[in-house]
Amino acid sequence: MKPAVRIAINGYGRIGRCVLRALHERTLDGEHFQVVLINEPADLDTVTYLTRFDSTHGPFPGQVESHRCGLRINDQLITVTHSKNPEHVPWADHAIDMVLECSGAFNTRTELQRFVQAGCPRVLVSQPCKSAADVDFTLVCGVNDHELSGRHVLVSNASCTTNATVPLLAHLHEHYGLSAVFLTTLHSVMNDQPMIDGYHHADLRRTRSAMQSIIPVSTGLAQGIERLLPALAGRVQAKAIRVPILNVSAIDIMLRLERSADTNALNACMKAFAASSGGLVAWSNQPHASIDFNHDPHSAIIDASQTCVDSNGLANVFVWFDNEWGFANRMIDAVQAWWPRCAQP
Ligand SMILES: NC(=O)c1ccc[n+]([C@@H]2O[C@H](COP(=O)([O-])OP(=O)(O)OC[C@H]3O[C@@H](n4cnc5c(N)ncnc54)[C@H](OP(=O)(O)O)[C@@H]3O)[C@@H](O)[C@H]2O)c1
Repeated sequence: MKPAVRIAINGYGRIGRCVLRALHERTLDGEHFQVVLINEPADLDTVTYLTRFDSTHGPFPGQVESHRCGLRINDQLITVTHSKNPEHVPWADHAIDMVLECSGAFNTRTELQRFVQAGCPRVLVSQPCKSAADVDFTLVCGVNDHELSGRHVLVSNASCTTNATVPLLAHLHEHYGLSAVFLTTLHSVMNDQPMIDGYHHADLRRTRSAMQSIIPVSTGLAQGIERLLPALAGRVQAKAIRVPILNVSAIDIMLRLERSADTNALNACMKAFAASSGGLVAWSNQPHASIDFNHDPHSAIIDASQTCVDSNGLANVFVWFDNEWGFANRMIDAVQAWWPRCAQP
């Protein structure tokens, strides 16, 4: 059996902490995965505190303490370093196999290569990179996992919204043909927005109080979808709107179908897709609100109660997703798919 993959987490914010916690909750940490290093600019007391308590996902289900140079989670010791420069982190001393880059601060090939040069043999990035060529592979679980190879060194796990839409759009394109796709993401707030108006972002609208307004922001979702589904090139448009809730997002999807369908047929098609997705996508026709999906590990939950199709081939589909927990679970799935294909270090 291949030895446990030795993981480092770079940037221990919302996604980094959810990844560690999801490994723990899925009881993967230990035999198959070992998180041995966390690199996060914040001090150790704050790292420990924010591991133990979480306003969105609740208290950590295990014992969390700090020790001399790191975190102790139950009996497991994790070294914690505090640099913004990959060159200053002793990755090689900890025999890291893979770094999960969760800071959001590195998204070009040149920037990501810094981890490799500093001693991380493989890098999994928690965001889409600037261009497809900035990584060796962009992964969306359920769509192209089979193409992931041990030869890849830099892999992007795309975005939470790409993971929420691409598997479903691929399926609907195969069954109905999509001549146009318009998506509107309703996304919970993120740490790149201030609590009250403040000067800290290049995007003017992201300087506005996150908890006070519905805020349209820029998005690369259309480009991300077309990168992964070239058959839809030139057919996808997307908008993103930040809404003042802490977690869980939704996407309203307008589709022009090339082959006719009605609401029941489309729902049956999506239900069958969810059932065959290996737990990545769920389907529900219950009267939901977003909070129902806090801490839900699916990439998307299709809300069949919102599906409608008109007689001209226009269809409207609605999906929910926990942008933190769902995506953090996909980071783990990515490692599970990738590591067995990597040559023995
Ligand atoms: N949150 C989501 O729903 C979500 C979902 C999918 C993907 N993502 C992506 O995941 C990435 C992280 O998002 P997040 O929401 O987790 O952000 P976050 O909560 O702001 O966490 C990022 C952490 O990385 C630290 N950091 C910044 N620069 C660093 C560096 N050079 N080296 C090491 N650590 C550094 C930050 O510290 P400072 O605060 O001191 O800078 C912060 O603690 C982003 O690319 C985001 O787009 C987020």
